[in-house]
Amino acid sequence: MRARTYSFLDSVFINIDHGIRTVFGKPPVTERDNPAATCNETQLDEHDKRIAARLMRVNHAGEVAAQALYEGQALTARLPDVRDKMERAAMEENDHLNWCAQRIQELGQRTSLLNPLWYTGSLAIGAIAGIAGDKWSLGFVAETEHQVVRHLEDHLQRLPVQDNKSRVILHQMKEDEAHHATTALEAGGTELPPPVKKLMALTSRVMTLTAYWI
Ligand SMILES: [Fe+2]
Ligand SMILES: [Fe+2]
Repeated sequence: MRARTYSFLDSVFINIDHGIRTVFGKPPVTERDNPAATCNETQLDEHDKRIAARLMRVNHAGEVAAQALYEGQALTARLPDVRDKMERAAMEENDHLNWCAQRIQELGQRTSLLNPLWYTGSLAIGAIAGIAGDKWSLGFVAETEHQVVRHLEDHLQRLPVQDNKSRVILHQMKEDEAHHATTALEAGGTELPPPVKKLMALTSRVMTLTAYWI
């Protein structure tokens, strides 16, 4: 069967559709179940619930951004092969998005009010990285994933000890993100210059601090 080719404008509209589904609806997911589904709910006091929900809100916002980053990257990727390789990773980010959203709901809180901003900002960053060329944009994805792994390690330390449900979700996400980094490097990603890495860390710091509260 002949693969359908999309014009740049088609891709822009597909992206707008994905963005709306990511922020407000149900984006396409993989066949995997929520790892917390088989985990028993433990008793959390109001303070611990609030802390856990805020941390999970930050992770949910990060997944919104990850989704946009992959979309932006796909929008400008030159090699169709690169797009295909990153597609599975993008779908796994949707799993993460749903798992985090479900957990936030169970903890009685809301997702970040700034999700549309995280999405559009990351879409632009992903598209710019894509314009720089596949090896740079894949390097950008790999570095992002490495930073997310370190961020998740920090959150695993900060989660209230009894919150097993959030913990198993973050553990699975951490495993997936490390795998996404490897996939991006194997697809041809290159190591980014240190100042770019620093700027990326600073940008994500602004996002994580803001999403904790808003
Ligand atoms: Fe993720
Ligand atoms: Fe990832």
